[in-house]
Amino acid sequence: MDKRIYKPSKQTYTRATKLLNEGQLVSFPTETVYGLGADATNSEAVEKIYAIKGRPNFNPLIIHLSAADQAEKYVKLNRLAKKLAQAFWPGPFTMVLPILEKNKISPLITAGLDTVAVRVPENEIAHKLLTEFDRPIAAPSANKSGKVSPTTAAHVADEFDSDLKMIIDGGSCKKGIESTIVQVMDNNLILLRPGSITIEEIKSVTQCAVRVMDENNVNPSSPGQLTSHYAPKTKVRLDVDVPNKDECLLAFGAVTINSSFTMNLSPNGDLEEAAANLFSMLRTLDKMNFTSIAVSPIPLSGIGLAINDRLKRAAATNNEL
Ligand code: TXA
Ligand code: MG
Repeated sequence: MDKRIYKPSKQTYTRATKLLNEGQLVSFPTETVYGLGADATNSEAVEKIYAIKGRPNFNPLIIHLSAADQAEKYVKLNRLAKKLAQAFWPGPFTMVLPILEKNKISPLITAGLDTVAVRVPENEIAHKLLTEFDRPIAAPSANKSGKVSPTTAAHVADEFDSDLKMIIDGGSCKKGIESTIVQVMDNNLILLRPGSITIEEIKSVTQCAVRVMDENNVNPSSPGQLTSHYAPKTKVRLDVDVPNKDECLLAFGAVTINSSFTMNLSPNGDLEEAAANLFSMLRTLDKMNFTSIAVSPIPLSGIGLAINDRLKRAAATNNEL
């Protein structure tokens, strides 16, 4: 077992808080993926996130809060934003909102934008850490920039060397796919990243239309959504019914075709289960040295939109990021 991995306990939270106060990084679980956390009010600490991820500094970060009522210290919430906060916080949901002029957030987090992305996670370990630390924690997914997000503590340990000193182990992330990101601009909602809170749920809570960002256009307000992301080293081929001999198969539903090696995201065709397994199975298949990973077609409904979004990015060839 990696010595940097700690089971949650009173001592673990004390140690994590101490490291964060010293401007060090701590990785922690959320219900979506593991985050790479730093004190959001300390620029030197935030700088370390960009450095160890190899993340371009124009790609802004999400701040995490212990409770929805903390948000008003940092951002302006109109009625629509309040409705969304009430419905989806705590949970796998991030809102991009206008940042208050006087705020204590490091300017590195917003990458020069006048908005900041805010999330209140539901995961108990994340919640306890945020409560004990008592300041916002900036946290991107705890992977090298452009690579597959981690859903276990071991995945995080695989990504980083001794520059990361502590990972809190919360087991496998329940949702397994990053939070839904919605920008609230006056009375308009823009979906910047699909996730497990679906468009249908957002519409039913707000009675508002949701504009979906065209992911082929780099959105200037969400520079992180570049086409290639979540990329394994092995090539990924999508919507495959019959895999080639030299390919492994990432299947979905009742698949009966033979392949050299198959992992099934959800034999029963359950999209929630598929989302929870996606990154972990991609990591396993990526280590097996097949020519490519063939992926079965996956429906676009509900959380299927987010699964297809991540797979499309995993299959994109421009892997510079
Ligand atoms: O589930 C999650 O959201 C995880 C956990 C750890 O909370 N975090 C996560 O962070 O996925 P990250 O940095 O890997 O992705 C955040 C995305 C990036 O695409 C970034 O460009 C976008 O959020 N973003 C952050 N601030 C923004 C802003 N002010 N305006 C538009 N997009 C923003
Ligand atoms: Mg990420």
